[in-house]
Amino acid sequence: RRHLLGINGLQPTEIVHLLDRAEEAVAVSRRPDKKTSVLKGRTQINLFFEASTRTQASFEIAGKRLGADVMNMSVANSSVKKGETLIDTAMTLNAMQPDILIVRHHAAGAVALLSQKVACSVVNAGDGQHEHPTQALLDALTIRRHKGSEFQHLTVVICGDVLHSRVARSNILLLNALGARVRVVAPSTLLPRGIEQMGVEIVHDMREGLKDADVVMMLRLQRERMEGAFVPSVREYFRYFGLDAEKLAHAKPDALVMHPGPMNRGVEIASDIADGPQSVIEEQVEMGVAVRMAVIATLIGQTGGPR
Ligand code: CP
Repeated sequence: RRHLLGINGLQPTEIVHLLDRAEEAVAVSRRPDKKTSVLKGRTQINLFFEASTRTQASFEIAGKRLGADVMNMSVANSSVKKGETLIDTAMTLNAMQPDILIVRHHAAGAVALLSQKVACSVVNAGDGQHEHPTQALLDALTIRRHKGSEFQHLTVVICGDVLHSRVARSNILLLNALGARVRVVAPSTLLPRGIEQMGVEIVHDMREGLKDADVVMMLRLQRERMEGAFVPSVREYFRYFGLDAEKLAHAKPDALVMHPGPMNRGVEIASDIADGPQSVIEEQVEMGVAVRMAVIATLIGQTGGPR
């Protein structure tokens, strides 16, 4: 494969291979000398048309730990502001002979379109409400480290604003591919049309939906993507769909609490739960670097893993 544009189309064996390589990258990242020369002489460009903290920082760190030269394109100060198109921007960067472009864009499908125009590898770092494949991979790695590789025995509950979430979409695809049971809990107004065809159970009540959960994955309420049609009040949303201690008690006692970030504390998750003993939210961030090292090394490395 030259690109990673989504989880859709990845075989389970490819997913497991990436998770195994990411596990090696965790070991590298925990060494005092974190840097390797796997990608010496390679050039990585991060091109983010949408805001990001975790994804952009971890792709930059991942590339640098692999020994690549990493350039962060500042879209805010680029000729995009003068009207240059996505494709012209990509073609311009392509002419500088990068080996890999990491792209986030607000439009679904934009990253796939760009990948057809350039000669280098392309990774989708989130495109609109479509996919965020490296987020799903890092979530799976985090789950596997705690619950083992038998995903077919796990019930993963994804709660909240599924409608606007590329994270939910990529996670549903990946968890289904590995055989997990996936349940979504959301008000019907925050579920995409056709979600039932994605092989998930749908529940509208948090307490019912959390029953028997091994993993509780909370989603950010993406108020910026709600164009006036349905913007729930924060107080009501938290009351019915916010994860607090009382609701979490309906999941298994050892259930993991996850959130891709950025979090709205007191909206979809209570602070004491986000910081509590069942939370693996910080570990997700660490796994983000490892998964991105594995993805980059797999796409443009010569041989072997990120050792
Ligand atoms: N989870 C995630 O994609 O976070 P950022 O938007 O901060 O990159």
